[in-house]
Amino acid sequence: MCDYKVCANNIFRRIGIPGPVRIPFFGELFNIIRKGYKTNDSDLVQKYGNVIGTTPLILLSDLDLLRNVLIRDSHVFINRRVIENISGPLEHGLTVLKDEQWKNARSIVSPTFSTAKLKAMYSLMNEVSDIYNTRLLEYADKQEIFNINILNGQYTLDNIASCLFGIDTNSLQNENVTLIKHLRKFFEIDLTNIYIYITIILPPLASYLGKKGYSLLPRDAMNYISNLVNQIVNRRRQHLERRNDFIQIMVDHEQEVTADQKLMEAKENADETESQQQQWETLKKTLTDKEIIGQALIFMIAGYETTSVLMSFFFYIMATEPTIQEKVYEEIRQELGDDEITYEKVSQLRYLDMVINETLRMYPPFIRFERVASNDYELGNYHIPKGSIISVPVYPIHHNPDFWTDPEKFIPERFLPAEKAKRHPMSFLPFGDGPRNCIGMRFALLEAKLAIVKALRIVEFQKCEKTEAPLQLGKLAILNTKNGIWLNVIRRSE
Ligand code: HEM
Repeated sequence: MCDYKVCANNIFRRIGIPGPVRIPFFGELFNIIRKGYKTNDSDLVQKYGNVIGTTPLILLSDLDLLRNVLIRDSHVFINRRVIENISGPLEHGLTVLKDEQWKNARSIVSPTFSTAKLKAMYSLMNEVSDIYNTRLLEYADKQEIFNINILNGQYTLDNIASCLFGIDTNSLQNENVTLIKHLRKFFEIDLTNIYIYITIILPPLASYLGKKGYSLLPRDAMNYISNLVNQIVNRRRQHLERRNDFIQIMVDHEQEVTADQKLMEAKENADETESQQQQWETLKKTLTDKEIIGQALIFMIAGYETTSVLMSFFFYIMATEPTIQEKVYEEIRQELGDDEITYEKVSQLRYLDMVINETLRMYPPFIRFERVASNDYELGNYHIPKGSIISVPVYPIHHNPDFWTDPEKFIPERFLPAEKAKRHPMSFLPFGDGPRNCIGMRFALLEAKLAIVKALRIVEFQKCEKTEAPLQLGKLAILNTKNGIWLNVIRRSE
């Protein structure tokens, strides 16, 4: 069997996996740049089917095989593709950590997103959503059309900064916040940067250049955010402040571990079973400062744009499908009346939940996600070598007429429990699946729902002269629009 690294360019053809003829040197990159991920992936799936060999990865949308990769054999596919030395502080982030290091970090970080912690963060989210509402009323009163992408980006940034790091960025009221300027740089990667091509075509050279200080990601932005988080961690360690957020959970965890360590020393001679020892071994691990900063950066990057685009597409649907907007509004009126919006009540709105799911189906914020085989593996009839990259083309799966009737129509009732039960669970993957799925899913849904419920109570969304139909979508791996989503809002009569 040929080694994956050496033969990546033609190995899938030799194995017999169908796919396009390799474009010399550039692989699929050429087409991705030309057409964008969404169109490129959809064209490939239409032409070659559900298992496609491209350079350098397998595009897999066969749902049974996908279930094996993501769930049944997740121990083989625990990692994502990582190019060493190019990520700076992100090297320690959950999205790129591997094997035991990832398992350990994920188990330490997971409690941040438990129901209890989310409930504790809810009041912080509530404050941010009040400012969001004020901004919407300003647009309504001035009768000014606006690009809702921008407002939503400010909302999700303020929420992450407040709930996870205890920073009041308040970008909703001050558009020139330095942090938001730096964050934007992560999403404005310049496609003319030669380093991108080197990264994809010659990963070893990219890795070498990374060691020499080249970076695909904006270093000034990474340094700025790293310093900010560093300062917060230090203030918390010195007990200068306390908040119900991610940093606090990490600092508290360190202190619990130190206490356990002392207890352990005291018990040194006591009898202990092997399993007790092992339990303690897992417990005593904490994140280093670099790892805490890595997670902080990843949360900002993974949570800012994705949740913001979900909200933008949702409000686009409200404006263009007024009957659906009225049904969502009616449910809010019936279930909540003029009551205070609580964590529990937001989670009980069934129709809203269906409309959000249908929005995520129609416009999945993450268009692709990946796994790497840590061993040789039988992928259906194909024997793929260790190191093979499996890429999941979410957009074509969500728009495949074999899985979804009339896929281009917006039909929230697809998500009624009885309809869901008829479908393959892998046909809907906005947050990935298996042990490596999105850790921030519940956080994202909560912050989006809170803003939506509050907004729809006070304003109605309408199309304006700049609202596109159909929407022009962008080319990047996070689905976005080419020209923004321009809308109009009017106050609802009291
Ligand atoms: C609508 C919003 C969001 C969408 C659609 C989304 C989607 C995704 C997807 C598709 C993945 C890859 C899953 C896989 O490989 O199976 C992922 C991973 C991840 N997401 Fe999200 N995400 C969202 C919001 C957030 C938020 C708010 C946070 C943090 C506060 C977050 C943090 C992460 C992290 C850390 C990972 C990597 C998990 C790991 O490797 O263990 N995401 N997300």
